[in-house]
Amino acid sequence: MSRIYLIYVFVFSMFLVGCAEEKLIKAAVVSARKEASEIGVEIMKKGGSAFDAMIATDLALAVCYPNAGNISGGGFLVYRTADGRTGSLDYREKAPIAASRDMYLDKNGNIIPEKSTLGGLAIGVPGTVAGLEAVHKKFGTLQWKELVQPAINLALSGYVVTEKQEQSFSEKKQDFIKVNGQNTFYAQTFRANDTVKNFALANTLKLIAKHGKSGFYEGTVAKDLIDRVQQKGGIITHEDLISYEPVWRDPINFQYKDLNIYSMGPPSSGGICLGQIMKMIEPYNVGNYEHNSMETIQIIVEAERRSYADRSLYLGDPDFVKIPKNELLDENYLSDRMKDFSFESASKSVDILPGKVLWEESEETTHYSIIDPMGNAIAVTTTLNGSYGSKVFVEKGGYFLNNEMDDFSSKPGYPNMFGLIGGKANAISSEKRMLSAMSPTIVEKNNQLYMIVGTPGGSTIITSVLQIILNVYEYDMDIQTAVSVPRFHHQWLPDIITFEPNIFKSSLFDSLQKKGYDIKQEYNRIIGRVDAIKVSDKGIISTGADPRGDDEASLLYSYEK
Ligand code: DON
Repeated sequence: MSRIYLIYVFVFSMFLVGCAEEKLIKAAVVSARKEASEIGVEIMKKGGSAFDAMIATDLALAVCYPNAGNISGGGFLVYRTADGRTGSLDYREKAPIAASRDMYLDKNGNIIPEKSTLGGLAIGVPGTVAGLEAVHKKFGTLQWKELVQPAINLALSGYVVTEKQEQSFSEKKQDFIKVNGQNTFYAQTFRANDTVKNFALANTLKLIAKHGKSGFYEGTVAKDLIDRVQQKGGIITHEDLISYEPVWRDPINFQYKDLNIYSMGPPSSGGICLGQIMKMIEPYNVGNYEHNSMETIQIIVEAERRSYADRSLYLGDPDFVKIPKNELLDENYLSDRMKDFSFESASKSVDILPGKVLWEESEETTHYSIIDPMGNAIAVTTTLNGSYGSKVFVEKGGYFLNNEMDDFSSKPGYPNMFGLIGGKANAISSEKRMLSAMSPTIVEKNNQLYMIVGTPGGSTIITSVLQIILNVYEYDMDIQTAVSVPRFHHQWLPDIITFEPNIFKSSLFDSLQKKGYDIKQEYNRIIGRVDAIKVSDKGIISTGADPRGDDEASLLYSYEK
């Protein structure tokens, strides 16, 4: 081999090493499924923004993550544009026009089991497609059709079933059959590595691609939806569909030390509760105590208990109830709330009501975080509520319908499927939005984007988001570690601390129990599935995809410094 050739090989390899060193992430999508993350990144490769990527990612999740991804549920978007403007979109479902306060009670005023969770009456008026169209109208840069096409392709070519998904399908199969009959699409046995092609959904998406939101809320898709809902005893009408409108709202904004945090406001409780909890713990400097130590857990649990108690009384749809937002986030009020906290013994959540809490795993909702090459940031949490929602499947349309009505308080003081208690503020009313805990959140530090974070998990959403922010900011964890480490949760009622199973030491439980904290190991379970992005003060992007699910980050690299 000639010397010149060797020199050439050497220089070329050095060039490659140099490239590798300078490989920087310039955009990312972190979502519950690899396919959806990749589709989002493909859109950005074509020059699309984070908002464009949101639409494509969301619809891809509707295809390949049918337990939570949806065109027939609802969600919230919190965004921060590259130039620092923030905002949020509420495309939460609404109660049908014909809904009424006592619709889930029998003549003696008792809750009828499953009425708000399974079947036609559980379904709220979907908001997703209208929400995505609103995002496109305000921020879209690529054509709508281009953003819907990848989901159509995915539905036609099929998605590959994961092991976790096989288990999820098989666990819910009997419910699918109970609600939809033996021949329903998802009554087929899908095993890991099988490919699921959903032609009916592809056709629905084609109509959405062609007509935008009218492709869903009007015409044949709407007709099939209404027919199906009504066959299953539901009360949604064409008028409900046509009159659905998403709402741009101001996010909740609060400071924690030198962080500036934006999260979802009512009808989500997320922003207010996260703000209350962070402001209550701020004076205690949890970073001075070890991560997940007894003291840290005590401080956080006591703040959580107090905030969730306020949630139950004050929070609901802001278009229906007056919410004392400023008062709830007032520093004096919050420090007063913590006055009776002592490290010596647990506070007690009074008036604990009996109620069956379904401690399901957190696979029912889904969150994704996106940053684009310009620096626009997107946090979206979207849901059908329960896994596969009401289980009502629109066969002709290829999708499940939500059971979001269970997020209302069916009866004052009685828990919903997440054990959450509510009252008048969250009572059912015609066209009202049900209270949520979904907390898509964006954090700034020194006026720069710092974190994008969110998760599923029903009532545990708020406390999971809290822990991720604290893990990064107070405990200096990288974002992937912050997402992966074990979590705990308290929500006032039931008055127990829930821990993730088989990780925390029994000596920790003993110490907490001695202080009067109740821990029921049989209630311990996986908490949340967080998908987050962090941007360092030098602008370095890193991602955290939750190993509790099949979540994955897809990245777009830049080779320039
Ligand atoms: O809006 C809410 O708070 C609930 N519908 C979210 C449900 C959820 O996160 C279920 N996932 N685990």
